[in-house]
Amino acid sequence: MARVPVAGSAYGGDMKLSDWAQDHARVLLSPLGRRWSHVQAVANAARILAQQLDRDDGEALVASAYLHDVGYAKGLVASGFHPLDGARHLLALDQIRLAGLVAHHTGAKHEAKLRGLEDEVASFEDERSIVSAALAYCDLTTGPDGELVTPRQRLADVEARYGNGSPVTDGLRAAWPELMDAIGAIEALRDGGVGASTSSPDVELGSVIEEVLDS
Ligand SMILES: [Fe+2]
Repeated sequence: MARVPVAGSAYGGDMKLSDWAQDHARVLLSPLGRRWSHVQAVANAARILAQQLDRDDGEALVASAYLHDVGYAKGLVASGFHPLDGARHLLALDQIRLAGLVAHHTGAKHEAKLRGLEDEVASFEDERSIVSAALAYCDLTTGPDGELVTPRQRLADVEARYGNGSPVTDGLRAAWPELMDAIGAIEALRDGGVGASTSSPDVELGSVIEEVLDS
């Protein structure tokens, strides 16, 4: 497994997980230019949704947003499938939950299957939670340069960049129904739907997500 010594990569003490993730991602991804622009915008969207979650889930959401594409970083590319390479890096840093969120982000298991990496990705826990749904929402509503897009525009961009027959395109298409279910539930919260008028919107939204994911 590729290991990259990164200055300031240790997480501990009173440091917030999201602050560590931001610093860690900046070191590894800022050299990549537009990829870093995308990641920062995904994290900004995650910070807004995190306000609806409890502290641990909110921190996990923002941290995973910063690190979901870390597998593209120079020196971390091993399998060539960025969710898996990023997850392995985070596992090596004992960030178990973040490793699972990154391994499975935005329907990654479908592309993994097309790449013959299904078992490797399945070795990480898929928490299928409000956090993973919110991460997918943030990723799919943020374009490659950090611009706000609709999920449909995001799919069209992937189709244009990678083309038919690519595991990236075909994996995202295969994941689409479940991604739309999760996004619909997150949009309901964002737009003041279910949960927005309650005193515990995180609980309400969580139940919505569970219903969607279990259906
Ligand atoms: Fe992304």
